[in-house]
This record gives sequence, structure tokens and C-alpha cells, in this order.
Amino acid sequence: MSNKEKFYEGKAKILYATENPEVLLTYYKDEATAFNAQKRGSIAGKGEINCKISSYLFNLLEKKGIPTHFIDCPSAKEMRVKKVKILPLEVVVRNIAAGSLCKQTGLAEGTVLKKPLVEFYYKNDELGDPLLTSDRILIMELATPEQIEQLRTLALRINDILSEFFLNCGITLVDFKLEFGIDSAGNLLLADEISPDTCRLWDNSEKDPNRRVMDKDRFRRDLGNVEEAYRRVLERVSFNL
Ligand code: TMP
Ligand code: ASP
Repeated sequence: MSNKEKFYEGKAKILYATENPEVLLTYYKDEATAFNAQKRGSIAGKGEINCKISSYLFNLLEKKGIPTHFIDCPSAKEMRVKKVKILPLEVVVRNIAAGSLCKQTGLAEGTVLKKPLVEFYYKNDELGDPLLTSDRILIMELATPEQIEQLRTLALRINDILSEFFLNCGITLVDFKLEFGIDSAGNLLLADEISPDTCRLWDNSEKDPNRRVMDKDRFRRDLGNVEEAYRRVLERVSFNL
């Protein structure tokens, strides 16, 4: 990896330039962080697992008409993607109350939302990724009104596709985070990754609130068996493609 030109290094992935200026190579790391990198660790095999799960889900979404940055995987931990300018927004879709929604509203964890909730957070580590409003997005010129609507529509469509897919895997898609970018032709593409790092996934065959967790909350909350849970997600996703 070392002779490649690093384009950007994030907490879970490294992006390298390639000979094609329109294409980047994403390397998925085993390192894990939580709470804006205040908690750090490593999940054995995570890079490979998340690269595989993301590639399967990007493929599934492409087949259903969602434009994504995904091209292919030249190796187990590497994904070739279309180069995009990432919008500094984290688009979160929630079907069931968990995480920061419970902390900030007092809703009980597990409350089924009457309809999916789409939220926008400012992708800015220094500010701790604060929750935004549409008006704040416009004032800060992070996206145009048309882009906000386009993002909301895409996020809800992606939620429909992924919720149905995970249900077939015996998994409830509780919530997840998406990132989008603009390619050189001006197209809005789904970018980043979709994996147990970026989704809350609950095993439908487990009732116990700790045992059912199959995602990064196992790491965030020290629930143990993190790698095993990620592997189970990969197995079920591969089996149901
Ligand atoms: P939250 O409840 O902490 O706001 O998280 C909502 C969803 O977004 C959850 O599925 C985890 C995911 N997420 C990320 O992918 N990256 C982040 O930095 C955070 C805070 C959440
Ligand atoms: N990925 C984020 C971080 O490290 C937060 C999280 O996923 O909980 O900081």
C-alpha cells in the first residue's frame, strides 16, 4: 500500500489516488473509533468484512436504480470507487429510536417510529458532527434546496430497499448513516460505506436488548463478540443476495 499516493485518511478507511483521475482506491481498516474518536480500538477482520458487506449492498442498490460511487473490489480490503466531492453532511435515517435520538428526545430505545425519520448532521469532527436543520444547511451553503430534497428522497428509497433486504436476512435495520458526493459530471452519488460500522442492525431471532445487537454498538458499549457479530451480518447478507 505504501507506494500509493494517499488522497485522504479517515477513521475507518484510507483513500488512495489511482492512475485514473476519476477513480480512487478505498482501503478498509480494522481500526474502530467511537464518540468522535475518544474511544479507539481494533476489530479483527473488520476491514475485509465491511468492504464485502458494502460492496454487496452498493451492488444491490445499483440494481434498484440508486447511483453509487462503487466500481469493484480488486482485493479483499480494497474497493475502487468513482471520485466524488463529498458533501459535508451525514444523512441519518431512523426506523426505530436508538442512540442519539433517545439521548436527545427521551424516546425509549426500541420505539418504532410512525414513519422513517431523515436527519442531517454536519460532518465536522471539531464541532462533534452537530444536528442540522434545513435552514442551517442553506445558511451554511452546505447544499442547495434541490439537493436537500434529492438527498431526502434518495435516503428514503435506500431505506426501503435496505430494510426489506435486511428483513429477509432476519435483521431489523434500526437506523443508518449515509454520505453522498458529486462526481465530475455533477451527478449526486451515494458514497462512503454501508456496513455494521454505519448501521444499527438487530438480530430478529434475539429478544435480549444486548444479545440482538449486530453492529458497532457492540464496540461502543463494550458488549463483546464484536467480530463474531460483524461476521454473522456478512454471512446472512451473502446468503440472501
Ligand atoms: P446516532 O444515534 O449516534 O446519531 O447514530 C445514528 C446512526 O448513524 C447509527 O446507525 C450509527 C451511524 N453513525 C455513523 O455511521 N457515524 C457516526 O459518526 C455516528 C455518530 C453515527
Ligand atoms: N465513527 C465515529 C467516530 O469515531 C462515531 C461513531 O461511529 O460512534 O468518531
